[in-house]
Amino acid sequence: ILVGGGVGVPPMVACAEELRRRYIKTIAVMGYRSDDTFLQEELSIANESYIATDDGSLGTRGTVVDAIKLNHVKGDVILACGPKPMLSAVKTHAKYTDALCYVSLEERMACGVGACLGCVCESTGIDDHSGVNNKRVCKDGPVFLADEVKL
Ligand code: FES
Repeated sequence: ILVGGGVGVPPMVACAEELRRRYIKTIAVMGYRSDDTFLQEELSIANESYIATDDGSLGTRGTVVDAIKLNHVKGDVILACGPKPMLSAVKTHAKYTDALCYVSLEERMACGVGACLGCVCESTGIDDHSGVNNKRVCKDGPVFLADEVKL
């Protein structure tokens, strides 16, 4: 299942293309504020596609998790990219459905090579580099297993 919202939609196009090349079935679930959607044609390469809109003007009214539940979308693996509240909800849903979940995080970056710690996110485990519950999004990510990070 590919889940994207806002700036997290474009990376899902590349994911859908790569997974299609590998003959892996994909279900795209994208969230938008309204029917002013983008990249829907590109995402049509997914085997199934669903949309959630905040205002209900297209697809499911509500969140991507609402669309997943209402359309009975099931998958072994979830790849998610988008705003943190969305990632948090997707992580919770993945736990509930026993799906393996990966999230792509976005943080402001300064050095981009793992030196300044300006991009850290809170992790569930102690980081080898800093000795605290942090992960560097630029160096350790930006994609993490959802269980590795606090959302
Ligand atoms: Fe400096 Fe990530 S941007 S450590």
